[in-house]
Amino acid sequence: MRTETPKTIFLKDYKPTPYLVDSVKLTFRLHDTETLVRAEMRMKPNKASKTKSAALELDGEMIKLLSVAINGELLSTGDYDLNERKLVIRKPPAKAFTLAIETQCDPAGNTALSGLYMSNGMFCTQCEAEGFRRITYFYDRPDVLAKYHVRIEAPKRLPVLLSNGNPAASGEIAGTDRHFAEWDDPHPKPSYLFALVAGDLASVHDRFTTSEGREVGLGIYVEKGKESRCAWAMQSLKASMRWDEKVFKRAYDLDVFNIVAVSDFNMGAMENKGLNIFNDKYVLALPETATDTDFQLIEAIIAHEYFHNWTGNRITCRDWFQLCLKEGLTVFRDQEFTADMRSRDVKRIDDVQDVRARQFPEDFGPLQHPPRPSSYIEINNFYTSTVYEKGAEVCRMILTLIGAKAFDKGMQLYFKRHDGEAATVEQFVACFEAASGRKLKQFFRWYEQAGTPQVAASGVYNAKAKTYTLTLTQSVKRLKGQKPKQPLHMPLALGLIGPDGKALYNGMVELTKAVQVFTFKNIAAKPVLSLNRNFSAPVVLKRRASEKDLLLQLAHDSDSFNRWEAGQELAQKLMLERYHGKEANKWPQKVEALAEALRQPLADPHLDDAYKAKLLEFPGFEQLLPALVKDVDPARLNAAHTDFISTLAQSLESSLREIYQSTESTAAYLPDDAQSGQRALRYQALGLASQAKAPWVDASLIKESISATNMTAEYGALRIATRFENPLAEDLLARFYQSHSADPLLIDKWFAAQATTPGENSAARVRALMSHKDFTVKTPNRVYALLRNFIGANFNGFHAPSGEGYRLAADVIIAIDAINPQVASRLATGFRTWRMFDVNNRQKAQGELQRILAAKPLSPDVFEIISRTLKA
Ligand code: ARG
Ligand code: ZN
Repeated sequence: MRTETPKTIFLKDYKPTPYLVDSVKLTFRLHDTETLVRAEMRMKPNKASKTKSAALELDGEMIKLLSVAINGELLSTGDYDLNERKLVIRKPPAKAFTLAIETQCDPAGNTALSGLYMSNGMFCTQCEAEGFRRITYFYDRPDVLAKYHVRIEAPKRLPVLLSNGNPAASGEIAGTDRHFAEWDDPHPKPSYLFALVAGDLASVHDRFTTSEGREVGLGIYVEKGKESRCAWAMQSLKASMRWDEKVFKRAYDLDVFNIVAVSDFNMGAMENKGLNIFNDKYVLALPETATDTDFQLIEAIIAHEYFHNWTGNRITCRDWFQLCLKEGLTVFRDQEFTADMRSRDVKRIDDVQDVRARQFPEDFGPLQHPPRPSSYIEINNFYTSTVYEKGAEVCRMILTLIGAKAFDKGMQLYFKRHDGEAATVEQFVACFEAASGRKLKQFFRWYEQAGTPQVAASGVYNAKAKTYTLTLTQSVKRLKGQKPKQPLHMPLALGLIGPDGKALYNGMVELTKAVQVFTFKNIAAKPVLSLNRNFSAPVVLKRRASEKDLLLQLAHDSDSFNRWEAGQELAQKLMLERYHGKEANKWPQKVEALAEALRQPLADPHLDDAYKAKLLEFPGFEQLLPALVKDVDPARLNAAHTDFISTLAQSLESSLREIYQSTESTAAYLPDDAQSGQRALRYQALGLASQAKAPWVDASLIKESISATNMTAEYGALRIATRFENPLAEDLLARFYQSHSADPLLIDKWFAAQATTPGENSAARVRALMSHKDFTVKTPNRVYALLRNFIGANFNGFHAPSGEGYRLAADVIIAIDAINPQVASRLATGFRTWRMFDVNNRQKAQGELQRILAAKPLSPDVFEIISRTLKA
C-alpha cells in the first residue's frame, strides 16, 4: 500500500530486460508467518537489449531480503540498492552468472491473496499478474521465460505438496516432522505462471492418453469431504482435452495435469502450467449443491484454463498490454467449446447478453479502454470484460471476415511461428493476414480504439428496379478530450426477408467507411432488413424498424440470433416508451402484440427449450441506460421495467402455466443441454408468472423448494421469491439457511439472494447482513455474493435516491481496500454509470467517490478506478 500518486505505465515504453533468466531453482521452507524462499537463478545478458552493462533491476514487494549472492559470493549492502519495490544490483557480471537470493514472506498475513498466501490452512499462490514479486526478487514480467525446478519443504500435516511440471522427487526430512517434494517444469515460462500448493487435501484421479500417445495423470485436489463433488469438473477436463486435440490440433505436454480448488480466491481461476488453481465455486458440483448455471460455468472455466496451456502458456504475452492476446483468444476458444458441447445458437445469445450487460457499460463510460490499452496504473484493473469478451469478439470477427479455413490456417501458423515465445497482438494478426492474403490493417483498430460503434441503417426499396439500397453509417461516441474516432472494418452478416417471411437474400457486407451504400439487385418485394446476424460485429444498431417488421422477424427470421433479437428490440422499445410516458393508451396493446408473437415460438416443438427460455428473458436496466444517455430517474426506470414485465407476463399467463406444467420431470438429474434447457424454461416461466401475480405461483414455489431434488429447483424458487418480493421470501430464506448453513458455497447463494432483493431500502438490509456471523470481508466469494451483487445487480437498491446505496458501497470499498485492493477495486467499478443519472443521484455518487479518493492510504487499484470514474 503506497501513499504517493501511483505511476502510469505506457505501452510505448516497452523495452526488453538487459538480462535474461535461463533457469530458476526455488526452495520453499513453508511456515505460516515466516516462509523462507531461496531462489538460484542462472542469468545471462540479453542480446535483444540495447542497454549494455546495465544495472540488474528486480521486482520485489512485501518481502524481506535476507541475502544476495553472485557466483556464490555474498553481496554487501553497498553492492545493491533496495526500496519498497525493487532490488537493484549495480554492477552484475558482463557474462553469464548465477544469482542466489534468500527472502522471507508472511503467507498467513497475506490478505490481498496475491503471491503466496494461506486459505483454510493450506498454502497456495496467485501470481498473475504481479504476485511472484511477493515471493522473491525477480524479473516479474511476462517476457522473461525460465525453466523452473521447485523444492517444497513443509510439515507432514500438509501431505500434498504440488508445483508446476512433472513430479521429480519426494521424501522425509530426517530428524524432523517435515517432508519435501520436488517438481520440474521442462517448459520455460514467465513468473506469473508459477504455482505452489501445500495442504491436507483429498483428491480424485483419472487418466488421459493424448493424440501423441502421452499418458497424462489427471488430479483434482479439494478440501477433505468434497471428493464427491469433483466428477463434473473431471469430465469437463477430459472433454476439453479431447476437443482441443480435435478442433485446434493441440495436445497436452506434461505427464500430469492438476487442478486445486481453494475457497479464498480473487478471481475465477488461474492457468498455472500443469497446476491450475481454481476458486472452488468453479470446481465443486453435485446436483443438490450446484445449479445448472454453475455446472455450465464449471465446464466453461475448466476448459478456459486448460486451453490457456497453448494460448497463454506455450505462447505468452510480451507485456501486459497484450493481455487480450491470451484472454480474448482463450475466451473465444472456450465459447467455441461450449457451442460444440451444447446449443450453438443459445450459446451465442448467452455471450451477447454478457457483452451487453458487462462490456457495453464499460465501453460507454469513464472506464472505457480498448482491448489493448496503451497505458495503465494497476494491471489487475484490466482483467475486464473489454479485454476478455470484446477481445473474443474481435477474434470472432477475424473468423467471420476470412472464413473458417483461413482462420484455422492462421491459428496453426500462430502456433508454429510463436510457440515458446512472448508474442504481441500484431504478431497474432499477421498470421491471419498471411493465411488469408487479406490486409487487416484497418481491422487492427478494433484493438486500439475504445468505445462501442453505433451503426445506423436505412434502406430504400425501389419496386420498379427491384433493388434495395442500404445506407450504413458508423460512428463511435467521443468522450471528453478524446481524439476523433476512426471508422472500423466490420463484417455485417445480413438477410432480406420478404413480406411472406421467406428469404430474399442472405449474405454479408464489409463496412469500412464512415458512410457506405450497398445495393442489392433482384429483390422481388419490399424486404425487412435483418442486420448484424449472429451479432457478427459487437456494435449497437440504430434503425427505424416498425413494430410490424420486428414481429415478422420474430416469427420468421432464419437467423436464430436475430429472431431472438427482434423480441429484445421490441421489448426495449416498449420499456423506453413507458419510461418516457409516450402513447400511454396504445401501450398495453403493443405489449399484447409482443406476447401474441411470442406464443407461437413458445409452442413450437422444433425449438429448444433453452432457446425458448431466452425468448422470455428481456434487457436489464444497465442495457437501457445508453439509450437514455443522461438524467435517468432510477425510480421511474425501475417502474417502467417492472410495468413492462408484469404486463407482458399477464398476457402470457396461460402459456406460462402450460410451460410450467409440461416441464415437470422425474428423470434423474443430468446437467446436460436438454435437461438444463428444460429447467431454464421452467423457472423462467415461473418467475414471469410470479410477476404477473398468478395465483398458482405461491403453491408452486413452496412445492419447488420443499420437494426439490436439485439446487436448480431449490435456488430457482428462492430467487423468484426474493427477486419479486413474494411474501414467502422470508420463509424460504430461513429454510434455505437451515438446510445449508454448513456449506459455504450455498451460504454465498443465500447472501446473493438477499443482496438482489430489490427495493429502495435494500442498503439497510445489506448493511445488517454484514454483521451476520457468516459474513466476512476476507473471503472474496462472500464479499462478491453480498456486495458485488448489491452494487451490480440491485438497480433500485444501489441507485436509491436517498444515496444510501452509494454510501454503503463507499464504506465497504474503503474498508476492503485495506485488506484486499483487487476485491475493493472490482466493487469500485460499480460506480461507472454514475453520470447518467439525474442530478440528485449524481451529486450523491460524486460525494461518495470523492470520499473514497480522499481515504488514506488508498491502493493504486482503487485510486485508478475512482479517479478515472470521476474524470471523464
Ligand atoms: N488468467 C486468469 C484467467 O484465466 C485470470 C487471472 C487474473 N488474476 C488477477 N489477479 N488479475 O482468466
Ligand atoms: Zn483466462
